Parts: sequence; structure tokens; C-alpha cells
Amino acid sequence: MSIKYYAKISGTGMYVPDKVLTNFDLEKIVDTTDEWIRTRTGMSERHIASKDQAVSDLAYEATLKAIEAARIRNKDIDMIIVATVSSDHAFPSTACILQQKLGIRGFPAFDISAGCTGWIYAANIAKQYIEAGIAKNILIIGVEVLTKIINWKDRGTCVLFGDGAGATIISRAGERDISRFIDSELSADGTHYDLLIQKAGGSRMPATKETLEENLHTIYMEGNKIFKNAIRSMYSACDIVLKRNNLDVHSIDWLITHQANMRIIQALGKKLKIDNKKVIVNIEKYANTSAATIPIALDEAVRNGKIRHGDLVLLASFGAGLTSGSLLFRM
Ligand code: ACO
Repeated sequence: MSIKYYAKISGTGMYVPDKVLTNFDLEKIVDTTDEWIRTRTGMSERHIASKDQAVSDLAYEATLKAIEAARIRNKDIDMIIVATVSSDHAFPSTACILQQKLGIRGFPAFDISAGCTGWIYAANIAKQYIEAGIAKNILIIGVEVLTKIINWKDRGTCVLFGDGAGATIISRAGERDISRFIDSELSADGTHYDLLIQKAGGSRMPATKETLEENLHTIYMEGNKIFKNAIRSMYSACDIVLKRNNLDVHSIDWLITHQANMRIIQALGKKLKIDNKKVIVNIEKYANTSAATIPIALDEAVRNGKIRHGDLVLLASFGAGLTSGSLLFRM
């Protein structure tokens, strides 16, 4: 008889750079107001990486905290998955650079590109490896330094993003452990791939003088076209896992969604009919850190005692691709 293994979250950590950029600071850079940003997005400030900080530096700091929380040693890690769209280099992967920083080697380390849904994609992959009995402690990280690929003259995007990293250790659960991953649903709709895109720098449009002059290496986003899709796709991902596990939304203790816009978070909460008090929000402090929003919010909620051992937690995200997904677990 084959043994059934389960995956659980055994440690979380986060890191944001020291420098804070407020809405009032942004008023001095582009034609915007604190009032517009707060009422349209719920954001008040965001953290910005320094000139010499890249994605792997943020990931490293968050990882040290997650390893400490999980009470494991660096050498206990047997896989690293980094979710990012702003990696140190186009190649090699940030996961390999992080592996070198941690002083470990000899196991798989790779990046995935799924936009803001990246951490949920990584968690889903980690779940499969743990449940198959192949890995015991997987380090997954959602990390971005999007402020380095922003067009600081485009008020429609530059006010929205911040930098940060959230690291999580996914471990094999003990036989009597109530903590475990229950279910996860991933999806993508590539018909809208061009709504959120970094157009130049890849093989479709290699870097030239013209691509630089036309700002094609920065984030291009048609935000209002993504808005409704975001609510619809996150609702669908949540609804599927709830139904598949015969769960009523009232049995969920905490909902954490991607922190892209307060109005999207509220609309999803309303559609799911979940009590507002169960919805964890930190968008005002960090803005949209893409793949890092969920693991950062998760780490904060664990450390401030909101999410406790045994709580039932539902996560949902959407992002570039357009990707979407959900994850249901007991802490
Ligand atoms: N300050 C002041 N005015 C602004 C600003 C700004 N920073 N940005 C846009 N405006 C103006 C526009 O020019 C427009 O003016 P007009 O009516 O005179 O033409 C007006 O505000 C309304 O613009 P909209 O784009 O329609 O504003 P909307 O209410 O849709 O908010 C936003 C824009 C915040 C981008 C919203 O659409 C959104 O959050 N969309 C989802 C974004 C998202 O979640 N992306 C995916 C995740 S990110 C990732 O994967 C990396």
C-alpha cells in the first residue's frame, strides 16, 4: 500500500526595503493626488528597493526569517521555487542565485513566471512534490522589484507598485498533524496576455535604442480591462475549491487575496459573501508587490497572531498571463 503524504506550511518570512514612498511623494513625481490613489486603490505607501538591491537580495532576507520560523537548517531544504517577473537576470534563475547565497546545492531550483499568481502556482507545485514523497522541505518565494521596471512618467501604473518578498517553507506534515494543504485550483487565460506585459527585452523584441526611447522595457497595463476579470477569476478559483471540498464560505477563518486594488478585494469578499472581518488586507502599507503580496500578508497575519494553528485559510490571486488560482489549507 502506498503511503499518503501531506504538505503543510511550517514557516513564513517577509522582507521589504527600508525606503518608503508615500502618495504625497508621488504627487511630486507625476500628475496624481493622495486622494485619487487612496480612493481608487486603497494604497497609501509602498517600499522601494535601493539602487543596489535586486530580487535575490530581498528573497534572501525573507528566506532567513522563514527558515528560522520553520526551525530547519539551510541544508534541510530540498527544492527552491521562486515566483517572480523581475528576476536579477533574464537567466540564470533567481532560485539558483538564492541557492548560492544560502550556501546549499544539489537539488532542483527554478523560477516560475505567473505574474501576481506566482506564489500560488509555486505552492501548488510544492504540494505535488511533497505529496508524492519526493521532497520534504520546499522553499517557495514570491518576490518582486517592479519599481525598477516601471515607467515613472505613467501615472496609470507607477503609483500602483511596491517592492517586497515573502518566503514560505512547505514541509511534509506529520501523520497526526492537522496542518495541511487541502486543495488548490490554478488557471490561465492567454487570450488576454497583452493586457499586462513588459513588451521589450525578450526574443520578440530585443533591446534596441528605439525600444529604450519608447519605454517598452517598462510595465504596460490596461488596468480597467483587468479589473472585472480579476474579480471573476478569483471568485471562480475560490468557488471551485469550496465546492470540491463541500465547504461553506462560513467555515473559512481567513481569506487573503492578491493586494492589487482595495475595490477588487472588497468586491470579491462581497461576491463570496464572506464576513469582512475575515478578509486580511495590508495594501495601504505595501501597495501591489505582485507575487509577494500573498506571502507577505500571510507572514504578517501569522506573526501578529491573527492566523493561528488549525485555522482554515483560503488564498486567491490573479495576474499577468492572465493567470489565476486559489489555495485552501489548514494552518
Ligand atoms: N492619478 C490621477 N488620475 C489617474 C491616475 C493617477 N495615478 N491614474 C489614472 N488616472 C485617471 C485616468 O487618466 C482616467 O482619467 P480620464 O477619465 O480623464 O481618462 C481616470 O483616472 C480613470 O482611469 P481608469 O484607468 O479608468 O481608473 P480605474 O478606476 O480603472 O483605476 C486601476 C485604475 C487602479 C489601475 C484599476 O483599473 C485597477 O486596479 N485595475 C486592476 C489592476 C490589476 O489588478 N492588475 C493585475 C495585477 S498586477 C500584476 O500582475 C503585476
